[in-house]
Amino acid sequence: IRQLVKQRRPRGFPPGPSPIPVIGNIMSLATEPHVFMKKQSEIHGQIFSLDLGGYSAVVLNGYDAIRECLYHQGDVFSDRPSLPLFMKMTKMGGLLNAKFGNGWIEHRQLASNSFRYFGSFQKPLDQKILEECMFFVDAIDEHKGKPFNPKHLVTNAVSNITNLIIFGERFTYDNCDFQHMIEIFSENVELAVSGWAFLYNAFPWIEYLPFGKHQKLFRNAAKVYNFLEQIIRRFSEGRVCNFPRHYIDDYLNKLDKSAGNLGTPYSRENLIYSVGELIIAGTETTTNTLRWAMLYMALYPNIQEKVHMELDSVLGSEKSPSLADKKRMPYVEAVLHEVLRFCNIVPLGIFRATTQDTLVSGYNIPKGTMVITNLYSVHFDEKYWCDPGTFSPHRFLDSNGNFVRREAFLPFSLGKRHCLGEHLARMEMFLFFTTMLQRFHLQFPPGTVPSLTPKLGMTLQPLPYSICAVRRQQ
Ligand code: HEM
Repeated sequence: IRQLVKQRRPRGFPPGPSPIPVIGNIMSLATEPHVFMKKQSEIHGQIFSLDLGGYSAVVLNGYDAIRECLYHQGDVFSDRPSLPLFMKMTKMGGLLNAKFGNGWIEHRQLASNSFRYFGSFQKPLDQKILEECMFFVDAIDEHKGKPFNPKHLVTNAVSNITNLIIFGERFTYDNCDFQHMIEIFSENVELAVSGWAFLYNAFPWIEYLPFGKHQKLFRNAAKVYNFLEQIIRRFSEGRVCNFPRHYIDDYLNKLDKSAGNLGTPYSRENLIYSVGELIIAGTETTTNTLRWAMLYMALYPNIQEKVHMELDSVLGSEKSPSLADKKRMPYVEAVLHEVLRFCNIVPLGIFRATTQDTLVSGYNIPKGTMVITNLYSVHFDEKYWCDPGTFSPHRFLDSNGNFVRREAFLPFSLGKRHCLGEHLARMEMFLFFTTMLQRFHLQFPPGTVPSLTPKLGMTLQPLPYSICAVRRQQ
């Protein structure tokens, strides 16, 4: 496997910036790698390469290149790279980081069935999300309009939706053990693209150095897996075959049925990995989107006012929002889309790899090459967006105020590995956002304006900020 990853640039490989001996271009990725990559694409072209310390990665920039590879060559660009870090973390099993093949197909299918089935087990999923929205707004109300940092509250509320599907129940907002697990897990999401992580991938022997951020990453992962193992055991008690109550039961039933089958991808280990991946992929992203949305509403009171006007005219002050109201709320839709475009929650997607040798735009890309999808460059692609550096929900509206879909909008990526939770995330964002803004006016504490600079990691999140949620007089 190392041979596949460590390959040298073959003839016809995309060009790229000159590497420094030994560490290649790793140092250039220290600050805002997505911005660095977009700038490099203006020099070397939409498809270029980076030397990540002896192994090469191809970077795809702009909507055209990403569509060409992820959509038109969907089977070729659907693997995950066998990087030492990923191999150490999940042995390329589980779901999100699984190699493209039977194991991935089975895990993806099982998870998406669970979303559909356990989401609507007793009640439609949007009803369950609305119940969580009520806990959420009640908890906001406890701050009585005084400044608070919404990070923990949003994380707790959002993670409860995946908790319902995976464990069959929500956790109360004072469950410290679960919160601590999420906290160190999201620290790992940040560390996974730190300079130390790239160094570890290039020089895995640094595992034996007693210092470095990669050690923190390993320690966190061990704690997370330990916690997940315990909680999975607890929630699988009382399991009755053929009557699964949640994702874990469903998985264990599959595992039992495949006992003795040598080729089965189901295992206790892969259950832990996939549960962890679903929790973090579902929580970190949707939470960050809502935190950015709150921040931009307070920053642009005129946009917030238009949201309030739409909510008042469609819902009034009493009626709870439902998914059926979505099409009557084009402005809310436009705001949420603009937050996803402008804030680039997963700026570089999740690293991909090629399943076979291929040719793209005249370049040769061998099998097993790591591929970075610069989704940020799609959302700031001047060919498709006018003045992309301005936050403007209007770009998603036509002259009559109707919502319009835009082609170069890929926050959930594209192709076979596109986000599994897109539908769920869209439901959550709409219901949490509308329930909150129906009741509250968001504003910064007097005299403060928080930084808009994102905190870097696999996902982009706002730096911690304080906000006041003041009850609206309707
Ligand atoms: C993958 C974005 C919410 C589960 C991804 C990818 C992106 C993404 C960019 C990478 C796809 C690729 O490889 O190209 C987002 C955003 C979200 C969100 C912006 C919210 C606003 C969720 C939710 C869940 C979820 C709620 C589930 C609970 C997954 C999984 C994958 C994935 C399992 C891996 C898919 C695979 O490898 O087959 N997501 N996501 N995501 N997402 Fe999401």
